[in-house]
Amino acid sequence: MSTALSQRPEVQSLALHGGTPVADEKIQLIAVRLDESDINAALEVMRSGMLAQGQRVMAFEESFAAVSGSKHAAACANGTCALQLAYGGLLERGDEVLCPAWTYVATASMLEAAGAKIVWVDADPVTYGIDVADARQKTTDKTVAIAATHLYGNPVDIDGVEKLAVDKGLSVVYDAAQAHLATYKGRGIGAFGDAVTYSFYPTKNMTTGEGGMVTTNDEDLLGKLRALRSHGESAKYEHSTIGFNYRMTDLEGAIGVEQLKRLPQYTQRRRENAKALDTMLASIQGLHAPTPTDGAEHAYHLYAIRIDEDAFAKPEEGKTVRDMLQTALHAEGVATAVHYPRSLTRQPVFDRPGVEHQPVSDRLSRTLICVPIHQYLSELQLSKVGEALAKVASAYRA
Ligand SMILES: Cc1ncc(COP(=O)(O)O)c(C=O)c1O
Repeated sequence: MSTALSQRPEVQSLALHGGTPVADEKIQLIAVRLDESDINAALEVMRSGMLAQGQRVMAFEESFAAVSGSKHAAACANGTCALQLAYGGLLERGDEVLCPAWTYVATASMLEAAGAKIVWVDADPVTYGIDVADARQKTTDKTVAIAATHLYGNPVDIDGVEKLAVDKGLSVVYDAAQAHLATYKGRGIGAFGDAVTYSFYPTKNMTTGEGGMVTTNDEDLLGKLRALRSHGESAKYEHSTIGFNYRMTDLEGAIGVEQLKRLPQYTQRRRENAKALDTMLASIQGLHAPTPTDGAEHAYHLYAIRIDEDAFAKPEEGKTVRDMLQTALHAEGVATAVHYPRSLTRQPVFDRPGVEHQPVSDRLSRTLICVPIHQYLSELQLSKVGEALAKVASAYRA
């Protein structure tokens, strides 16, 4: 840090330099809690001895499809398996697929696992979803599908994706691992595309421990998903395709049924928390609240703030503005996280000779920071998150 910066009274008053922290007890980014009804449902399954996929999973599938706006749902072992099942049901080896560079690795890695050829697409700089204009420009006569992630809980421009799909005859898979109960133009996100995939990993808006789901309106695809999920079985001990064992257990299904009952209330809390943070951020120069896509209702799995680097002082050599803000926020008692530190074309597994890097995705990888938004935050904790952001931002102002 430059001497001038370290001598600013606002910098000296940061907890990082011995000042009083905004929160004495760390405000965590994630809180995973099971309540008594989840535990009792799991105990009931354990006592029954019927642990494998059965009635509970079926009940979970039915209620999940209904709340997601979809006709059908197939549960599976996790969100990565859900992607693999959806791609397996829709793609052939060698197919060319449009895929965002700005998403979690599984959206893309499962395409390669299915033998598809990825065409990288950049992100929208404001909504962080796939840039549909860029996707359209990269569509060739070999393109057969588009993968799009409702990242952080914010639905992509679904109208744009669907129009591109219709114009070019593409299949669409939406990765909604982070977007349970998000809506687009008043409909659940499960209503759109050929398949939508979800994850129930403990950090997600609802959990089953590990778990995943694919929703679809296509009955034929549902049959394929079910077969792929269970050894390619078309009838008892009749195996028509190469499949896997990606089944969900009834233990997870039972927890899912209970968690799903509370999900609307959790999502409502996340949205209220987001509204409160949006208001606090409106008066902090250089930090931008996440922007829901037009027509979308965000599920706020993550609250990703965009940092305008020019609004802040230069960090020390080798650090980014985000590093500087993040270190200070931690000292103030606010946990933060970076989703993600690299765009996918910069990951060793995809950074191959000739790979086309995506400039907006690269910028987002340097300028986004996630702060707590979960449903268990108290009003006081939420206001302390805002206070810490204001304190740190004003200390490091350009
Ligand atoms: C966007 C996205 N896709 C896929 C996954 C994979 O889900 P899982 O961890 O359940 O395999 C995740 C999980 O973090 C995710 O965030």
